[in-house]
Amino acid sequence: MRLKIAIQKKGRLSEQSLSLLRECGIRISNGGKLKAEASNFPVDVLYLRDDDIPQYVADGVADVGILGENVVLEKEKQVRVEEKLGFGKCRLSLAVRREESYNGPSWFNGKKIASTYPVILNNYLRGQGINAAIEEISGSVEIAPGIGLADGVCDIVSTGSTLLMNGLREVETILHSEAVLISNPGLRGEKQTILSRLRFRIQAVQNARQNKYILLNAPDEALDTICALLPGMKSPTILPLAEKGWSSVHSVVKEDTFWEVIDGLRRAGAQGILVCPIEKMFL
Ligand code: PRP
Ligand code: ZN
Repeated sequence: MRLKIAIQKKGRLSEQSLSLLRECGIRISNGGKLKAEASNFPVDVLYLRDDDIPQYVADGVADVGILGENVVLEKEKQVRVEEKLGFGKCRLSLAVRREESYNGPSWFNGKKIASTYPVILNNYLRGQGINAAIEEISGSVEIAPGIGLADGVCDIVSTGSTLLMNGLREVETILHSEAVLISNPGLRGEKQTILSRLRFRIQAVQNARQNKYILLNAPDEALDTICALLPGMKSPTILPLAEKGWSSVHSVVKEDTFWEVIDGLRRAGAQGILVCPIEKMFL
């Protein structure tokens, strides 16, 4: 039995989806084919358009998929979100021509908005009590205002360079999104077991990405303060140095609070601080 996993063939998430699987130790060849079999783990990778992934997972053509949460919300298919994956962060926003004198969401009343996200956009407009027409198109949304197809757009913004290049300006954020792992809610038996193994690996990769290994030297009298700053996985490791009155402290520190912690450690008297990446981390 093998688990069929759908990922984006070409686009913003393809490369990072593949690297995640590779960091999970799954060996996949990517010879431009539609389907690839991993050689050392019971999964087959299907390369698909991200917009089609929710449907395929709901139908069981694929068992699981990696794609943007934005697409999952738009397609409203029967799929289960198993895991947020921490990459491909973006937002779905409304944008107008740079020179437009925009004065708030009600500006869109009576206007036309081009989007590949009609469902989410429609919910947003209704919630805001705005009466605007939605021009549903399947790609290159950002050119719509320039060619007179619409007054504004509702599209994914990641770095913002697409908007910039097309003379558009982001005016409202509708939602924030990132890559997620979805599954068919009917998975049972062996497939469910493979999915659990995959999730266990994904979590280890994510924990490793979110944490750093830290080593430092400290005078013994500073150890209490330093240990309070470095809770670690259980508690820090403390080893005596050959030089009397000094110890080496080893622990794990969160990526997002990392610089504040380092400042605190230095104030407390830590020296020779080393920070190393973690390859995998099992909690
Ligand atoms: C989105 C969007 C823009 C681009 C914005 O496409 O449609 O083309 O990303 O990114 P930027 O702000 O960094 O310029 P996306 O990759 O989500 O998917 P799609 O091609 O499948 O619509
Ligand atoms: Zn797409």
